[in-house]
Amino acid sequence: MTTRPWPLRVGPLLLRDATEPDIEALLAFRNDPAVQRFLIATTVDPEKFRGNWLAKPSSTTDFSCVAEADGQVVAIGFLEIVDGMGQPGVPTGTDGMVGYIVDPQYAGRGYATHLAKGLLTAAFDHLGLRRATAGCYADNAASARVLEKAGMRREQHGVEDSWHAELGWVDGYTYALLDREWRATHE
Ligand SMILES: CC(C)(COP(=O)(O)OP(=O)(O)OC[C@H]1O[C@@H](n2cnc3c(N)ncnc32)[C@H](O)[C@@H]1OP(=O)(O)O)[C@@H](O)C(=O)NCCC(=O)NCCS
Repeated sequence: MTTRPWPLRVGPLLLRDATEPDIEALLAFRNDPAVQRFLIATTVDPEKFRGNWLAKPSSTTDFSCVAEADGQVVAIGFLEIVDGMGQPGVPTGTDGMVGYIVDPQYAGRGYATHLAKGLLTAAFDHLGLRRATAGCYADNAASARVLEKAGMRREQHGVEDSWHAELGWVDGYTYALLDREWRATHE
């Protein structure tokens, strides 16, 4: 069984599995309307959210975590192992999808960038994945900047490929990074 990459220190952050006492704080900012503006899944059901998060430490594909700074939970990081696409024989479980949500009271301190780097460290150095991807609405300029600061490459600008509850069909970006590109800058 794959061991979890956590705990992992990255810059000022400690990335670790969520535990029961974290859940209320996570829910408070996860369901903040300002935070949801550019999330694909908007409001989450508190009981499903609790169950999902408490199950993650025993998952073999979901390595999502929380980020702590100075003992406070400041962000959620998402890291899921997925299959790449291809013809029969394609190896499975080779790719990672990353994402993040920062508690707005801690925004603008570089935490999302450190967290994204920590998720990539886990994906490549710990889980041995081949490729990592992340997506954002094109209008989410702060998130696109975070992915670029983390070293990811914008490889798709999807024209009106993403549904937004208020804006309708809008543009989305996909960012990616290969293991060999990561190694070229981290060894
Ligand atoms: C987007 C988000 C992750 C940013 O978190 P953060 O911790 O503030 O990010 P960082 O401080 O690491 O970096 C933010 C960068 O975006 C820039 N930025 C912030 N707002 C911006 C804007 N409106 N336009 C352009 N750039 C912007 C900052 O200046 C900074 O770049 P810099 O270091 O070059 O100056 C956070 O606001 C968030 O969680 N939002 C809600 C959930 C969300 O959208 N998640 C991502 C879904 S894809």
